Amino acid sequence: MPGMPSEILPSPAPLDRRLSIAPMMDWTDRHCRFFHRLLAPRALLYTEMVTTGAILHNDPERFLAFDPRESPVALQLGGSEPEELARATAIAEAWAYAEINLNCGCPSDRVQSGRFGACLMAEPARVAECIAAMRGATAKPVTVKCRIGIDDSDEEAFLDRFVDRVAAAGCRVFIVHARKAWLKGLSPKQNREVPPLNHPRVARLKQRRPDLEIVLNGGITEPEAAAAALELVDGVMIGRAAYQTPYRLPAFTRALQDPGFADPDRACVLAAMRAHAAEVARHGTPVRAIARHLLGLYNGERGARAWRRRLSETMHEDDAGPGLLIPLAAPLRDEPAPPRADGSPALTIS
Ligand SMILES: Cc1cc2nc3c(=O)[nH]c(=O)nc-3n(C[C@H](O)[C@H](O)[C@H](O)COP(=O)(O)O)c2cc1C
Repeated sequence: MPGMPSEILPSPAPLDRRLSIAPMMDWTDRHCRFFHRLLAPRALLYTEMVTTGAILHNDPERFLAFDPRESPVALQLGGSEPEELARATAIAEAWAYAEINLNCGCPSDRVQSGRFGACLMAEPARVAECIAAMRGATAKPVTVKCRIGIDDSDEEAFLDRFVDRVAAAGCRVFIVHARKAWLKGLSPKQNREVPPLNHPRVARLKQRRPDLEIVLNGGITEPEAAAAALELVDGVMIGRAAYQTPYRLPAFTRALQDPGFADPDRACVLAAMRAHAAEVARHGTPVRAIARHLLGLYNGERGARAWRRRLSETMHEDDAGPGLLIPLAAPLRDEPAPPRADGSPALTIS
């Protein structure tokens, strides 16, 4: 039930941050999260970044409503004015978010011109004010997602100073994308690829501040690597790998949260997505808004190309409906199986 106010929902269980799925603009909308929830039942899911302006100057329902079956969901806010962030946080109280997160890691020009995102890392006192103001508007955890540094900042002292100052304002959870953001000269996409990853730096932060919850993000694509990281930090956040190869999410769940979790049957997942598509179609949402997140359903396995082709050819048709979300039929499984990164045999489609 979209838009259900939080007062009538049971209070949430303590958050399990061992596995979370990253906020990703244009990707982790409510339909994507509904899909990911089926594959990672205990992961903490993040919204796309929502700017304070979007909430304060528009119909907030449009940006904030979600289906409680996606829960737990963390709302990521973009902004840098304490008072505006507090008002946006207060408005979001009407929905059952589990956490409110402040974006201190996005390097896009648009975000920089609003003086928020990664450039906030240069202003820890302001971030502290933002956190204090947001905490004044909610009893939910208020958290920060940041980088290990920006531009030519020192990776050790700069990050420590930022975290100490913001933690003093009551932020107990830091999600750290383990590479710097270069604010000039790189596109957001390059800023997710070019600055080198430094996972040990995030582990050192946890060693130095064991009282804080530290979640590692950036470049984690294998469940085994995620499990190894969990020895050093409190949680692992997966971004692109979750979106591009969603059927790895059950393996991440097994590695980090629930060793007994079995791979859900694709037919069951698609049946749930058909029901979701039919439900939201009643409010005018076209099936392509859901189907686009399912293009990676078979990635890494036999049939991936046939699936993508079939879905992308049909989802834009005028009469496209939920009925197109059906599993691949046997005759379409005619591609050679792609090799897996670790050289092990490819999975077959169930
Ligand atoms: C398409 C896309 C959009 C993103 N949008 C956001 C965003 O809105 N807020 C944010 O904090 N990070 C955003 N990110 C960064 C991710 O949250 C994550 O930090 C980054 O992709 C590194 O994790 P990964 O290597 O597991 O993908 C985005 C990443 C991608 C690929």
